[in-house]
Amino acid sequence: MRRIRVFDTTLRDGEQSPGVALNAQEKLEIALQLARLNVDVIEAGFPIASPGDAEGVKLVADNVKGRAVCALARAKDKDIDIAWECLKNAEHPIIHTFIATSDIHLRHKLRLSREEALEQAVWAVKRAKKYVADVEFSAEDATRSDWEYLSRVYAAVIEAGATIINVPDTVGYITPFEMQELIKYLLENTRGIEKVVLSVHCHNDLGLATANSLAAVLAGAGQVECTINGIGERAGNAALEEIAMSLYVRRDFFQAETNLNFQEIYRTSRLVSQRTGMLVQPNKAIVGQNAFAHESGIHQDGVLKEKLTYEIMDARLIGREDRVLVLGKHSGRHAFAKKIEELGYKLSEEELNQAFQRFKQLADQKKDITEDDLKAIVSEEVAKPEEIYHLDFVHVCCGNNILPTATVRLVKDGKEVLEGVATGVGPVDAAYKAISKMLGISSNLVNYTLQSITGGTEALGEVIVRILDGDEEYIGRGSSQDVVVASVIAYLSAINRMAQRKRKLNPQKDYGES
Ligand code: KIV
Ligand code: ZN
Repeated sequence: MRRIRVFDTTLRDGEQSPGVALNAQEKLEIALQLARLNVDVIEAGFPIASPGDAEGVKLVADNVKGRAVCALARAKDKDIDIAWECLKNAEHPIIHTFIATSDIHLRHKLRLSREEALEQAVWAVKRAKKYVADVEFSAEDATRSDWEYLSRVYAAVIEAGATIINVPDTVGYITPFEMQELIKYLLENTRGIEKVVLSVHCHNDLGLATANSLAAVLAGAGQVECTINGIGERAGNAALEEIAMSLYVRRDFFQAETNLNFQEIYRTSRLVSQRTGMLVQPNKAIVGQNAFAHESGIHQDGVLKEKLTYEIMDARLIGREDRVLVLGKHSGRHAFAKKIEELGYKLSEEELNQAFQRFKQLADQKKDITEDDLKAIVSEEVAKPEEIYHLDFVHVCCGNNILPTATVRLVKDGKEVLEGVATGVGPVDAAYKAISKMLGISSNLVNYTLQSITGGTEALGEVIVRILDGDEEYIGRGSSQDVVVASVIAYLSAINRMAQRKRKLNPQKDYGES
């Protein structure tokens, strides 16, 4: 079996998804989970893009050991220097530099001739090589570039020291058949290519990203670049979980394997969805809510008789055991702590206490506590922003023929009590208006999503919101069996993030109720 390297770019290309902005701590949390998943390379960000991104890359490079950590840089001195600054403490740093090679990009975007772009690519690789042993070079828009020129650029950067050569399908244009031809062409015609890792990076504009990545593997590529849940620019990137499971389930055909720890796939998918606020579509392959659900009677009958009839893989393989009952109302703190540890979490004493309290509340109302419930509880406790505003209570009055009204009481900094009342088009709208009015905030709610974590009317409902304050966006998440309460927790958690940041930027001027 050939071993295929998995280069995860969730924290870089994935983070370029519209509306997604991860802070440094969130990047680190995801990177640590990617390390558990056992990806080979974590592309942590594009440091020149913003100080926040640079901070995130540095935090990941400083703290994630045993994995290669990569930073993106255009073929420019400042980009490469700052990438190195951020990667300095990484155990295995990789600088990933790129320049476009298609005539469309050269003519309209860069205004460079082919020869000038080639020279700049060589220059950039040499500069990166002064800092790190492993340099990846990407020819942006490779799939719409002239093949003979592309191969010349790759040969030149290999000579300059590049150790990984990436072929991005930047605009998701190529088809699997052409991808196979292109990879074969490059392998046969590029001087020095046998010494380096040949990588592909596919976008999903035509829904072909996974198919194109697999076609490249078949033709001889040794690395695939991908993201969790397929997030990324526009229609996203090739989904890691789809590539991983295709190679595994059809190993008879591909004769290639990854080093991934499949058990961590589902948890990684949930974490990325929660931190980015990007919900996974229910019918998404591998990680969607319906991916293993059988609705038709014929299918259900078949699966009950023999799973193989309609299932090509076992959900447990990727760490999905959502129907498994794990704890109940009578479980004590010890059993709870043990289960949390088994699930791979390392909580501080205080986090554990808080999570246990949440678990007890939930167990009082819900008979069956599943692993997914526990993951939701832990994820909320661990990622909870430091509270400036704490929810004391929310009361709503709603129904048909009644004006929805909400009364909300918050406690600020543990001492000051604030109360607000408002009406709205529904109970959530009324509660949000009550909070906004009482805090005197004019932030915009740009996104609100609600989904149930497990089935049934007593399930936990999970709400993710995004609010916009000037140019800054903040994500908040909340879960509860009561969707209004979940909504208020989510809104407050976004507001707490915003208030924390404002307080940090300007400690004199307090932010809050007017
Ligand atoms: O899609 C693309 O071309 C990229 C490169 C920077 C690799 O993301
Ligand atoms: Zn990309």
